[in-house]
Amino acid sequence: MSIWVGIFLLFVLRTDGRSSRYHRYRISPLTGERIALPTPDQLEWQAQELGVLIHFNMATYVEQHDACPNDLVPSTSRFNPYLLSTDNWVQTMIDFGAKYAVLVAKHNCGFLLSPTNVTFPLNPSGEVVPYNYTVNYSPVKGVDILDEFVKSCYKQKIQTGFYYSTVINNYLNVQNDTLKEGQLNITQQVYTNIVLSHLRELWTNYGNLEEICFAPGTLDTIAKMLAELQPHANVFGGSDVTANSIRWIGNELGHAPDPTWSTGTSSGGGDPNSPIFCPAECDTTLQVFDRWFWGPHVLLRPLPDLIDVYHRTVGRNCLLMLDLTPDRSGIIPPEYANRYKELGDFIRSCYGSSVRPSIQNSSADFLTYMLVFNAPVSVDRSVIQENQTRGQVIRAYTITVLIAITKDQSEWTEVATGTSIGNKKIDLWKKGTLLVRAVKLNITKTVDVPVLKSFTVHLCA
Ligand SMILES: *[C@@H]1O[C@H](CO)[C@@H](O)[C@H](O)[C@H]1NC(C)=O
Ligand SMILES: *[C@@H]1O[C@H](CO)[C@@H](O)[C@H](O)[C@H]1NC(C)=O
Ligand SMILES: *[C@@H]1O[C@H](CO)[C@@H](O)[C@H](O)[C@H]1NC(C)=O
Ligand SMILES: *[C@@H]1O[C@H](CO)[C@@H](O)[C@H](O)[C@H]1NC(C)=O
Ligand SMILES: *[C@@H]1O[C@H](CO)[C@@H](O)[C@H](O)[C@H]1NC(C)=O
Ligand SMILES: *[C@@H]1O[C@H](CO)[C@@H](O)[C@H](O)[C@H]1NC(C)=O
Ligand SMILES: *[C@@H]1O[C@H](CO)[C@@H](O)[C@H](O)[C@H]1NC(C)=O
Repeated sequence: MSIWVGIFLLFVLRTDGRSSRYHRYRISPLTGERIALPTPDQLEWQAQELGVLIHFNMATYVEQHDACPNDLVPSTSRFNPYLLSTDNWVQTMIDFGAKYAVLVAKHNCGFLLSPTNVTFPLNPSGEVVPYNYTVNYSPVKGVDILDEFVKSCYKQKIQTGFYYSTVINNYLNVQNDTLKEGQLNITQQVYTNIVLSHLRELWTNYGNLEEICFAPGTLDTIAKMLAELQPHANVFGGSDVTANSIRWIGNELGHAPDPTWSTGTSSGGGDPNSPIFCPAECDTTLQVFDRWFWGPHVLLRPLPDLIDVYHRTVGRNCLLMLDLTPDRSGIIPPEYANRYKELGDFIRSCYGSSVRPSIQNSSADFLTYMLVFNAPVSVDRSVIQENQTRGQVIRAYTITVLIAITKDQSEWTEVATGTSIGNKKIDLWKKGTLLVRAVKLNITKTVDVPVLKSFTVHLCA
């Protein structure tokens, strides 16, 4: 069951046409092609690499279901996180290495994790009632979970964001068939007003948000509100409402295509020739079977699977947004916390430091970079980062290494080839671990003078 797909489809219906007013590009001095330019907010966002998407809401309390199926409106009395600790959530983010966290403020049930002042008229009586399907009508009344979350993250310099699903709201019967228990009858116009009022509260009361996810019903109003309230937020699927747009990778497996470009707005690997800079985000689960909310007896994905996910996301120029699921008591269960830490430990030990060359030089045209070692070293992979300040320009590259065969004999051999680099490209060498005297990166196709941020080699196997 996918929470993103519904949201995503709404965006797809509104394509590139209007986007140009928010996006900038330059013309390549070499080829005349358009090179999409990023905003500083997009580059900062992309450099984070690791984030979490926190699924903790009424659906956490629904038996054996990942969302809120069949128009269910569970009673607010069920939402009782008696051990709630957002500091505990943040400890797991640190152990994993997450730099940002997006919390599901409202999901399909309609339940809101914060109090709200929004009121609305019922259909047909016109009686004005409060939006009372919130944490403030639950056993933990008085707690604003969004506020606690933002404060805990702020203490550890973790950027924050909110997800607010608009496609489904059981409480307000958005699907609009017959009214079931707990559902209220309202008009479409009233629904639109409620969504806009909620977004205004979310975007006003909790400081600067780094990423926001929602489905824009009324684009112009949303665009104005964004510009006014959260001008620096990166908007998931938001290429029609802001220059700070980011895109969905197109699946929930944690597998970005190779190549994945920083440009292009449709989901998937993007388009190197698009004039729109719109980097990709790869959201996936820790639990098996694409399960987003905590579930009793749900298994966790094994560590090797998650390491593979890291290489197929961060290693392919995509942000890894891993699901984080507090249980019904309101904390991360210990075995879950442990798996996040195992993955974080792997990333830190493998990529936290590199095998240092004694000479690091580039050719005059910047198309060849070399790492030269005094004595042969064992390495099995390389990491390339492009400086995308003036756009993503590299289109293809090869990596060759000088293998030490005997004490005096060496030979060059190719270990990797690729196309998109962008924020980061990790190549696990096809020949495994090699004893090398030098490593050479050749940029074989580019639309402007390439600027590298880093080129390193590692031994992890
Ligand atoms: C509701 O209104 C009160 C009074 O204006 C204000 O203090 C409070 O912050 C508002 N709550 C929300 C969730 O916006
Ligand atoms: C919420 O408001 C509706 C409509 O006024 C009402 O029927 C319902 O009893 C209220 N629920 C709670 C928990 O206050
Ligand atoms: C909601 O109210 C309208 C207006 O009175 C009515 O026509 C409609 O049947 C009601 N919807 C439901 C699902 O009861
Ligand atoms: C429900 O359907 C009726 C009839 O098509 C429509 O007038 C009304 O606006 C719809 N309400 C919602 C909340 O979608
Ligand atoms: C880097 O330095 C090495 C050793 O001095 C030299 O052989 C090599 O050609 C240089 N590479 C580049 C790209 O300039
Ligand atoms: C790499 O570039 C050098 C010149 O900079 C060239 O001699 C060599 O053939 C290139 N290798 C590949 C694999 O393109
Ligand atoms: C990237 O390049 C820009 C100039 O285009 C430079 O100002 C900036 O310092 C570079 N950043 C890194 C991390 O190399």
